[in-house]
Amino acid sequence: VGLNVEIRPCRLEECPAVLRLWERADAVPSATDDVEVLERIVAGRPDCLLLAVQGKQIVGTVIAGWDGWRGHIYRLVVVPELRRQGLGRRLVSEAEERLRRLGVRRIALTVVGDDERAAPFWDAMAKDGYVRDWSAVRYTKNV
Ligand SMILES: CC(C)(COP(=O)(O)OP(=O)(O)OC[C@H]1O[C@@H](n2cnc3c(N)ncnc32)[C@H](O)[C@@H]1OP(=O)(O)O)[C@@H](O)C(=O)NCCC(=O)NCCS
Repeated sequence: VGLNVEIRPCRLEECPAVLRLWERADAVPSATDDVEVLERIVAGRPDCLLLAVQGKQIVGTVIAGWDGWRGHIYRLVVVPELRRQGLGRRLVSEAEERLRRLGVRRIALTVVGDDERAAPFWDAMAKDGYVRDWSAVRYTKNV
């Protein structure tokens, strides 16, 4: 990408800015969008939350979770003004690389099926090996 964007782990003090970015980028809100949760994951393993940074601006995020069984990708977000320039793809590949180093052998992720950005993006990632699983149904509970 000719964007001069660096991808690196999130720092503790950047967590509030990450939440603001998600709001601004119109990411689907979730029950876990709060500073304490983000600080906890960053304190646990900083490269679990990766940021794309341009100058001093945070311009993208991805969460690369690992529970010892599967790798999970969450909160892949790119600011609206930098979309369609390959940054989403770069964030995924960086997340993947770091998960692989931890020993992850299978990655799973869920997207809102009728979102006009998420599914087309992940369908385009088929060439990177991401297969749409029509047989899966997700259950969730806020506890
Ligand atoms: C999804 C998202 C992260 C994609 O980021 P991005 O930087 O624009 O993605 P890329 O530029 O790497 O796109 C790679 C390919 O995906 C496909 N793609 C991406 N966005 C698309 C869209 N809105 N419509 C159709 N295809 C799309 C294209 O094939 C694209 O390649 P191309 O631009 O050469 O045609 C971004 O749109 C976003 O932040 N959306 C809001 C949050 C969200 O929905 N996140 C996904 C949930 S995990």
